[in-house]
Amino acid sequence: MKNFLSLAALATGVISQSVFEQADFSITEALLNNGVDILAIPELGQFLKRSLMSDCSAACTSLKLIFGDDQVEMKPEAAYNAFFSTLWSGQQREIMPQCVFKPEKALDVSTSILLSRLTQCPFAVKSGGHSAVPGGSNIDGGITISLEKMHAVTPSSNKKTVSFQPGQTWYNLYLALEKDNITVIGGRVADVGVGGLTLGGGISYFSNIYGLACDNVESYELVTASGLVINVSQSSFPDLFWALRGGGNNFGIVTRFNVTAIERAPTMWGGMRIYLDAALFPALINAYYNLGMNAKKDGKAHQYLSFAWGGMQSAYLELNYADPITDAPILAEYNAISGAYADETAVRSLAELTIPAGNYSSNGLRQAFWTWTVKLDKEMATITKDIFFEELSPILDSQGLLPAITLQVISEPQLEKTAVRGGNALGLNPMDGPLMVVLISLSWSNSADDDRINEFAARVKDRALAAAEAQGKASSYLYMNYASPYQNVVAGYGAANQARLKAISKKYDPTGVFETLQPGYFKLDRAPWGNIS
Ligand SMILES: Cc1cc2nc3c(=O)[nH]c(=O)nc-3n(C[C@H](O)[C@H](O)[C@H](O)COP(=O)(O)OP(=O)(O)OC[C@H]3O[C@@H](n4cnc5c(N)ncnc54)[C@H](O)[C@@H]3O)c2cc1C
Ligand SMILES: *[C@@H]1O[C@H](CO)[C@@H](O)[C@H](O)[C@H]1NC(C)=O
Ligand SMILES: *[C@@H]1O[C@H](CO)[C@@H](O)[C@H](O)[C@H]1NC(C)=O
Ligand SMILES: *[C@@H]1O[C@H](CO)[C@@H](O)[C@H](O)[C@H]1NC(C)=O
Ligand SMILES: *[C@@H]1O[C@H](CO)[C@@H](O)[C@H](O)[C@H]1NC(C)=O
Repeated sequence: MKNFLSLAALATGVISQSVFEQADFSITEALLNNGVDILAIPELGQFLKRSLMSDCSAACTSLKLIFGDDQVEMKPEAAYNAFFSTLWSGQQREIMPQCVFKPEKALDVSTSILLSRLTQCPFAVKSGGHSAVPGGSNIDGGITISLEKMHAVTPSSNKKTVSFQPGQTWYNLYLALEKDNITVIGGRVADVGVGGLTLGGGISYFSNIYGLACDNVESYELVTASGLVINVSQSSFPDLFWALRGGGNNFGIVTRFNVTAIERAPTMWGGMRIYLDAALFPALINAYYNLGMNAKKDGKAHQYLSFAWGGMQSAYLELNYADPITDAPILAEYNAISGAYADETAVRSLAELTIPAGNYSSNGLRQAFWTWTVKLDKEMATITKDIFFEELSPILDSQGLLPAITLQVISEPQLEKTAVRGGNALGLNPMDGPLMVVLISLSWSNSADDDRINEFAARVKDRALAAAEAQGKASSYLYMNYASPYQNVVAGYGAANQARLKAISKKYDPTGVFETLQPGYFKLDRAPWGNIS
């Protein structure tokens, strides 16, 4: 296989920064640079005439010829059928791609993008497969690129940075780093993927000290729309670097993240506490608010507070401290609330802690996430919880329903970190903080209930946001990783950021490959599904 000739061209300035992909870009030539001669593949000969018809059968047959059986799964292979159980949401499991392609290296990813362009066959990209958005990481009749074979983890020799590939889960990544007493800023639940979480932001147990996962990335290895493999950092491509920090899947496929390593103790304290006595909810909300406001005093503390229905109103409190200390002073208000029905807090390793955290997510059921953001405020927290329970009764007869609303905090120190290395695309301003990010998460089993369950969530959101707006406490920010396919996340980053993201996309992806050939997930100008009617 030949190597990339085009990178040399970039370095010598033949391709200037202002014209990343020339108007006369030849997909055929780019494929030849990757070692793929389309004249040698019968299915592809017809595309020399620049057919505009989408032909996923030709795309997948070609992938199989080029990469072999190990890397391409099609119906009725057992490995094709086995793929679906790696997706978290039941709706995503029902989507049948023409093939599942499993690249082993960045060059393979490049070839598959070029083949998609040649055959006009749409694609989706899957890292950990935990998106709640149907079509976010799997595509009907197209090529689903599963990054599972790319899962290397490499700490630098001085242990100051770690590079990892996107086919990795947080549990395995944390486990691999434990022996060096380092970790990275990432997810709180074992099986979630490193790819989607990091590209959308990424709230970690340690975010009050280090910020979001995306703010800890030093560079990305990225496969672009024209099949180039480039390293994107603040010095190499500052605009693209900014866009990748919150821009989701709109700018390319990341084949390696290089992130700052965090030194830490081998164990920490935390876990879930469950409360079934609604009389305790006001005290929990007070403690939630005060801890959120005090994040600057001791960033080692972390929390999220959920309210749920399981035959009765209940509260689930995830409480953590970054050191193996069971009674950190900053957690005193929470610790003084007695009457928990269950208390699973303990001292464990970070990797171990992510396992019980997954007990509360129901793998394989139908799923919906909805989100919005308001200022951190005690009254708003109470109102939000009350509206959730008020609106719930009409959908309680849905089969297998597990509804919850989770209150998180984007604290002042987290907001300050969004400005490092030139800032990120999220549109968050430290002056607006601290913020309360709300997540409604719903699991259920019958597709006949899909619409009314989404309508319920939309109603709770609309009412809670209206209450916040009336008091000047609403924010336009939508957290991509928690958003529903009916929500226009990028518009929520603000008009200026949205316009800047579109301009950067135009520069690096002038034909809009990641906007049109990869239609799933949050696009720069739209929600995946438009407004709910
Ligand atoms: C049980 C559970 C726990 C969670 N916990 C947390 C948490 O602690 N903190 C938090 O912030 N969020 C959390 N989330 C939300 C989570 O961040 C999102 O669900 C996220 O999309 C999951 O990433 P993934 O790689 O598993 O998903 P995927 O479905 O694989 O990917 C999501 C999107 O990202 C794109 N993508 C993935 N990898 C790449 C890549 N390498 N290049 C380009 N595009 C890519 C995909 O195309 C897809 O559109 C949680 C979700 C669940 C279900
Ligand atoms: C990450 O990038 C930095 C800067 O380019 C480099 O020094 C470091 O070795 C990289 N880390 C890994 C683990 O590759
Ligand atoms: C990690 O930390 C533990 C406890 O502090 C220590 O015993 C061990 O030697 C450390 N390991 C490395 C590789 O530094
Ligand atoms: C990107 O950087 C990594 C190490 O930081 C290096 O191994 C890799 O070759 C680089 N890739 C490109 C395309 O320059
Ligand atoms: C949660 O998961 C752990 C580890 O898998 C298990 O030991 C524990 O019993 C589970 N707890 C609950 C409440 O289901």
